[in-house]
Amino acid sequence: MAKSSEESPARRTFMMVVIGLISTVIGIALAVPILGEVLSPLFKKRDIVWTKLSAVSDLEKISPLTPKFIPVYFKVKEGWSINTLPRQVIVVKDITGDLHFFSNQCTHLGCPLHWIPARQKFMCPCHGGMFNVLGEVVGGPPPRPLYEWIHKIDKGSVFIQNKFLDNPKERGI
Ligand code: FES
Repeated sequence: MAKSSEESPARRTFMMVVIGLISTVIGIALAVPILGEVLSPLFKKRDIVWTKLSAVSDLEKISPLTPKFIPVYFKVKEGWSINTLPRQVIVVKDITGDLHFFSNQCTHLGCPLHWIPARQKFMCPCHGGMFNVLGEVVGGPPPRPLYEWIHKIDKGSVFIQNKFLDNPKERGI
C-alpha cells in the first residue's frame, strides 16, 4: 500500500508529460496547414498580367527612331491585396517599321531613363548610363541593353505583359 502511494506522484508526472506531448503534437499538426494557407501568398510568384498599351494603328504612326513614352498600369495581386502598379513603356519604331517595347528602367540599378533628342540617347541621371535609340549601351556602367516588355497583338491592340523578354532573373514587375 505504502509503495503504491509513493509511485503515484511519479505516475502523475509521467501522465502530465505524455498529455503535454500529445497536445503539442496536435497543436503543431493543426498549426502547420493553417500557417501555410495564411502565408502562402507571400511566397507565390507574381501573377502574369496583361494590360492594353495602345491601338497598333496609333503606334504605326510614330516617326521612326523617335521614342514615345507610354504609361501602363498593371493590376497585380500582392499578398492579400490587388495593387495598381504604374510603369512606362518606351515604344520605338525602327527603320524597317518593326516596333520595340523597351522598359524605361536603366539596366544598371533601375533608375528611370530620359530621352535627350539633341544627343539621340537615353540618359540615366543616376550614374551616367547611356543607351542608343535601339536600347544598346553606348556609355556608362549599365551591363546590358534595355529590357523589352513581353507583348502581343490582339484585335488591333498591343498588350504588354508584366515581364521582360530577356528575363534571366524573373525581372519585370
Ligand atoms: S542606374 Fe543607370 S547608370 Fe546606374
